[in-house]
Amino acid sequence: MSTGVTTPGASDAERAAFRAGPVDEQSRVRLAATGLDYRRVSVDGEDYAPWLQSVARGFQDGERSEEQIAASRERSGYRRLTGVYDPAAPVAEAPVATIASWLGELTVPGGAAIASCAISAVTVAPTHRRRGVARAMLEGELRAAHAAGIPMAMLTVSESTLYGRYGFAPAASGASWRIETRRAAWIGPRPDGRIDFIPRERLRSLAPALHERVRLRSAGEIDVPGGHWDSFAGTTPTAEKAGEKRAIQYTDASGEVRGLAVYAVRENHDDFTKGTVAVHYLLAETPDAYAALWRFLLELDLVAEVRAEELAVDEPLLWMIADQRAATVTIRDHQYVRVLDVASALEARRYGGPGRIALDVADPLGIADGRYLLDADADGAARVTRVEGSPDGVDTVALGIVELSAVLLGGVSLATLHAAGRVTTADPLAASRLFGWPTAPRLSFWY
Ligand SMILES: CC(C)(COP(=O)(O)OP(=O)(O)OC[C@H]1O[C@@H](n2cnc3c(N)ncnc32)[C@H](O)[C@@H]1OP(=O)(O)O)[C@@H](O)C(=O)NCCC(=O)NCCS
Repeated sequence: MSTGVTTPGASDAERAAFRAGPVDEQSRVRLAATGLDYRRVSVDGEDYAPWLQSVARGFQDGERSEEQIAASRERSGYRRLTGVYDPAAPVAEAPVATIASWLGELTVPGGAAIASCAISAVTVAPTHRRRGVARAMLEGELRAAHAAGIPMAMLTVSESTLYGRYGFAPAASGASWRIETRRAAWIGPRPDGRIDFIPRERLRSLAPALHERVRLRSAGEIDVPGGHWDSFAGTTPTAEKAGEKRAIQYTDASGEVRGLAVYAVRENHDDFTKGTVAVHYLLAETPDAYAALWRFLLELDLVAEVRAEELAVDEPLLWMIADQRAATVTIRDHQYVRVLDVASALEARRYGGPGRIALDVADPLGIADGRYLLDADADGAARVTRVEGSPDGVDTVALGIVELSAVLLGGVSLATLHAAGRVTTADPLAASRLFGWPTAPRLSFWY
């Protein structure tokens, strides 16, 4: 399929410029008025270690060792780090609040990747909570991204209720699977290729290129920052329980590696036939690789249960086992996104057919509100223009920035949001057909 849509991804120069950019002035002034200093942190400087310790404390983790700090510093070059400091505190060099972000790429329906500001490491010390510090940082980072011309923001969350107030919506759900292996019974394909154990270092070296080849197929996926591969593979000196991780590859009949998986087996000392497998990461470039890797995991001896997290809500795996009730699937909000530039974000994706619709977007932060006309052609490519007034003969969907962000990746339909009282439109089904997408969005990891 020709896309006809340019991929407005993120170049290295744009990533570096965003990383080096200043903090948002409005939030700096607001925090300064309460006696707090909002400033950028350098990965290479002396302020990095106290920043990292504050992040660890914020997530109720232990103190970081020198070795862990060094390993983290080495893998953090891609991030823009910011801290909030209290000059009156006894340890004034330790930030009382932290945030990190970077310019990444988010896949949208149709196979394009759009530049998107990823946000993580949001913490506020218990000594400084509920005074608006998190709000100042989040709004600040969104304004900084918007000022840099970045059309989207995204994050994964520890608590679901925190980010809707800034316009973020759960846009790609994650499915957690627990599969009773004896009950499942494999009925899927049995491909000709081979599965082999490989050193974790080999998986670490193969995974980035393989992921680059598949990430544009699934809306919701993002480019994986390098250091994350070390976490999946357990290939840093500071990785915990790395030795428990087993790595395998699937090679097709022509000798190409098409799939990788990392998993760990936990023995059951009460009954050695009932071990548990945790699948840490599974990456498949072809349907054969997907089937072969899952079959291998489900047919391991001495294993009664296989667990996997952050799967799609429409995994083909469900149709590869004889007894679907062997799988207990729990669905949870996972990838959150926030539209910052309506026209760029909506033009990047494809639509379910030709059609015209007006979108009346409300944004409490004043970043993306306005009325937009979306005009999709027969190939599903759209032109989106900002308009004044109501265009003649075109249905209007009135919605908030959260609802617009929720439907961007195709994870929920406008008809569902209409039924939930979250959007207003005369013809919810027509709007849904336009925004609908045949496969569910997914994000395969946390960041
Ligand atoms: C969650 C956290 C960042 C909030 O920081 P904070 O500075 O106390 O938040 P603010 O005072 O700026 O509050 C901002 C808004 O969030 C709300 N809020 C704050 N914490 C909340 C919580 N745990 N649950 C629900 N709402 C919360 C506030 O009521 C406020 O709402 P409003 O502005 O719409 O009136 C902080 O408590 C924290 O660091 N927690 C532990 C780490 C963590 O969970 N980080 C999030 C990672 S995804």
